Amino acid sequence: MSEAVANPLIVALDVPELDEAVELASALAGEVGHFKVGLELFGGHGPAAVERIAEFGPVFLDLKLHDIPTTVERAARRLARLGIAMLTVHATGGRAMVASAVEGFAAGGGAADAILAVTVLTSMSDEDLALVNMPPAETQVESLAFLAVDAGAPGLVCAPRDLGRVRQVVGRDVILVTPGVRPAGEGDDDHARAATPSEALSAGATHLVVGRPITRADDPAAAARSILRGLPEDGEG
Ligand code: C5P
Repeated sequence: MSEAVANPLIVALDVPELDEAVELASALAGEVGHFKVGLELFGGHGPAAVERIAEFGPVFLDLKLHDIPTTVERAARRLARLGIAMLTVHATGGRAMVASAVEGFAAGGGAADAILAVTVLTSMSDEDLALVNMPPAETQVESLAFLAVDAGAPGLVCAPRDLGRVRQVVGRDVILVTPGVRPAGEGDDDHARAATPSEALSAGATHLVVGRPITRADDPAAAARSILRGLPEDGEG
């Protein structure tokens, strides 16, 4: 697996109001590795939300771009100027689109390890995929992972159950971000197959996206610290 990152926790700030997100980010500053800003917060407050949250730590902007390569190149170039640390695109946008995202982000002054490709959304069942003429997830995940990395993406977002197979396909240096992570003993919320933080890291993840177990806790910083304490030491997992 790639070298262990200093703090693998990415906290999903899935709240509608910027004030609420700022309150969480300020309580969690220094306790987590990244803050995930998604479509809800970005839709409501736009680039200002990113700039405000970035005052408290690196921002993972989860917009899952999927458009023609030129449009994605221009969007990535513009978004890089917001100073974000990570940006998501869909691997199904194709090789040229992923490569354009990487190029655009670099042209905008962004970091080289920022573009993460999403393989298959876990909300899509095999029946849903068939309705849009796509093969079952299991047969797509590895080829999409390979395509995205071959196109220059330094990282991928994948479900806990796919981590092992994807890690084998892409090698040890690729960033693997996984959501659907739940501390042992906590409910799964709406995740069909949640993994514990330790399981996800042992299976090859470099970063863990955790939302509600931290954001809904009475003391979010204590919840983050408790998750981090339960992780294997460097080299152990
Ligand atoms: O609150 P929770 O920890 O479930 O938040 C998980 C975050 O990861 C959310 O922002 C959600 O959009 C994202 N995500 C997910 N499951 C996936 C892909 C992304 O929960 N399969």
